Amino acid sequence: MTVASKLVVIGLGYVGLPLVVEAARAGFQAIGLDSSERVVEDLNQGRSHVDDVADADVSEILSRGFVAATDASSIATADTVVICVPTPLDGDLGPNLDAVQDAARHIAKHLQPGQLVVLESTTYPGTTEEVLVPVLETSGLVAGQDFHVAYSPERIDPGNTRFTLRNTPKVVGGITPLSTQRAVDFYSQVVDEVVVSAGVKEAEMTKLLENTYRHINIALVNEMAQFCAELEIDLWDAIRCASSKPFGFSPFFPGPGVGGHCIPIDPNYLSHRVQTRLGYAFRFVELAQEINAGMPAYVVRRIQDLLNDQALPLRNSQVLLMGVTYKADVADVRESPAVDVAQALLDLGATVSFIDPLVDSWAIADIEIEKVADLKSGLREAQVAVLLQAHSAFDRDVIVSSGTCVLDTRGALSGPMVVRL
Ligand SMILES: NC(=O)c1ccc[n+]([C@@H]2O[C@H](COP(=O)([O-])OP(=O)(O)OC[C@H]3O[C@@H](n4cnc5c(N)ncnc54)[C@H](O)[C@@H]3O)[C@@H](O)[C@H]2O)c1
Repeated sequence: MTVASKLVVIGLGYVGLPLVVEAARAGFQAIGLDSSERVVEDLNQGRSHVDDVADADVSEILSRGFVAATDASSIATADTVVICVPTPLDGDLGPNLDAVQDAARHIAKHLQPGQLVVLESTTYPGTTEEVLVPVLETSGLVAGQDFHVAYSPERIDPGNTRFTLRNTPKVVGGITPLSTQRAVDFYSQVVDEVVVSAGVKEAEMTKLLENTYRHINIALVNEMAQFCAELEIDLWDAIRCASSKPFGFSPFFPGPGVGGHCIPIDPNYLSHRVQTRLGYAFRFVELAQEINAGMPAYVVRRIQDLLNDQALPLRNSQVLLMGVTYKADVADVRESPAVDVAQALLDLGATVSFIDPLVDSWAIADIEIEKVADLKSGLREAQVAVLLQAHSAFDRDVIVSSGTCVLDTRGALSGPMVVRL
């Protein structure tokens, strides 16, 4: 190893923990800092709290010398410090950078000449230079001169076994050419390919471009799904056919809304920046938000239509929700559109139950939703079932042959009792 043999990662969640694992495997002496004592204790005892990192991975890196801690003093010993703390959205107030600032204050306290500090948390373009650097410089050291600073967007795709941290190219941009070079030297040892951006703002914008692109294209097919249903056109089939074009088309699929902690949130960082800095709206994002946010209500309308066809009111009807996580084959229920669907159904008096092989219990606003014992009996008891997440563990044959009317929001089923979104 040529550079940066000691690494400190701050924030050991979905982004920070995989980085620590990959870096430890690459030979770095990795230390992880987290403000949660529970996270630190679990990791030090070999227990992972992140879907894509197995307990065995944590045990392996512990045997390679990895240590998790809440105390930040180890920062002084590091060559590279990477910040992976959360950046939630504070409604209309824009991104909440409290955790980034808190991490930066800890770094400033222990900052040493020659160190490299990288921000990976998702945020608006300008954050590294306008928010992170000033806090780091309270150390008395000058960024770009005494120490180095870069931004590198995280591209973790939870549940994706084909593209992992190691084989997904990593974009890096520093505040000076030397900062960029230091970041390239670091990441080249952890991932297969590093892509250098023109500067730090371009690296920040890369992440927002990627997620805004997804958000807008999902909104496009979500809007199309609504009028295709009325025109009696199978949009999924049209997408399948369009996907045969080897250039100029990337498939996106309709669904009950966008979930997770990136796609519905990240474009807001950008529109917030454009609005506060330039005073005008990022119209594409606003329209996409409106369409995607309206999908759970649209799903509920379609459920009502299916019940209406059976001469049943939604009130007191049994609705089975199949798959309540934000993504197929992932256990994470944060920001799942299933929450809005269930809430609207409860508000309208429906009796809601769910089944999800990855979720043991599920509550909506403190109301525990009944988990059915198995797919067959759950379907038998329901007047309508809704496939919200097409987990691979669901037995498609059981669903389509149950005799219960099914609304398929994922285009994963076909049969006489199945109606697609
Ligand atoms: N999860 C993803 O798929 C994903 C993908 C790309 C980018 N991101 C971005 O990466 C960043 C981190 O996301 P995540 O999903 O890993 O979050 P997470 O909630 O899974 O983990 C964050 C960790 O940071 C810790 N933490 C919070 N405040 C802290 C502080 N002040 N000091 C030290 N530790 C602190 C928390 O205890 C937690 O363990 C966010 O900006 C997010 O938008 C996430």
